[in-house]
Amino acid sequence: MKLNVRTGGSGGLWAIAACLAVVLLSGSAAGAQSAGPAPEGEKLFAGHCASCHAPFNAVRAPWPQTLQLMTAQAILQALETGKMQAQGATMTHEERFTLANYLGRHETATATKANSCPVNPASANAATSASAPRWNGWGVDIDNSRFQHAAMAQLTKEDVAKLKVKWAFGMPGATGAGGQPTIIGHALYVGGGDGAVHKLNARTGCEYWSVIPSAAVRTAISVSDDGKVAYFGDVQARAYAVDTATGAVIWKTELDPHPFAMITGAPKLFGGKLYVPVSSAEELGAANPAYECCTFRGSVAALDALVRPCGARRRSIRRKVCCISGRAITTPRPTRTRAIQFSRCR
Ligand code: HEC
Repeated sequence: MKLNVRTGGSGGLWAIAACLAVVLLSGSAAGAQSAGPAPEGEKLFAGHCASCHAPFNAVRAPWPQTLQLMTAQAILQALETGKMQAQGATMTHEERFTLANYLGRHETATATKANSCPVNPASANAATSASAPRWNGWGVDIDNSRFQHAAMAQLTKEDVAKLKVKWAFGMPGATGAGGQPTIIGHALYVGGGDGAVHKLNARTGCEYWSVIPSAAVRTAISVSDDGKVAYFGDVQARAYAVDTATGAVIWKTELDPHPFAMITGAPKLFGGKLYVPVSSAEELGAANPAYECCTFRGSVAALDALVRPCGARRRSIRRKVCCISGRAITTPRPTRTRAIQFSRCR
């Protein structure tokens, strides 16, 4: 089955891993699309969805086969409060329910539990020193050069042709994996369409921990220089700081309450501040003529990376928001002289 898997612009290894994971899931979902009143559901799909959700569509909408791998619950959520809310708003709740049941799966994904790592990650964290081989965040360095030096890669040109898949990690229920993995020494951090962020052993693929944020994570994970804190954003515009030893959330904050706001660019840590770009999927709303467009404005937030808020979380994080005329999709590039490289800030 050909699937519409999005892996962002990231490296080949992750593209392979994501594909393998999805191939496994497609196997477990075979024959799971029979439930629900098909004729009515089919009519609703043809009238409200098929203009975009067709094979080889130009708007990067998941193909029908991919939607069939989602649970009915997840599709209903997308239509009522998620990315498809503007499309869902053209229907009654009963129609959305019928459509979700027609399209989606009814059983939860059956995947074997991730293989837990035998060692305590807290002791293994010693290997996260600044000298350990790593690919941190999206851009690797402060200039976002995305260039890996030979000393870090520990590969020669000749080795590349000999690379083989060593392990693959499946994400239950996910139909895509858009977040680039970050590697710090033995540890690999990755967010995925399963709505979780995982810390894995880069050599074996076993799992140290996984944390479930409020929504899926498409950003690369950015880890502090001392290896102790991992930062990321979710597709509902919330930024997170997580303890790399345990997966415990240190703080979490919503950067934009707009219903289509999301974070797709990896946060960037510089000088004790965390720069987070905020983008949106408002173009999906604009496809509904009744949607008032456009109300979203892109921004970049500068958060105090080290604050540990409790209770009044939002107020205790100092932040400056820089508005831009479009969306902020990519990782910011802080410089020593100017805070962030985005034009038309005010
Ligand atoms: C105007 C084009 C368009 C129409 C019409 C449309 N969609 Fe979508 N849909 C998209 C695009 C594009 C995405 C991918 C958004 C992304 O990943 O940022 C998407 C994503 C989705 C997702 C995945 C959401 C998620 O959170 O990952 C679901 C489920 C979905 N659509 C269901 C539907 C259903 C059901 C209908 C009909 C009621 C519908 N869509 C109508 C364009 C459309």
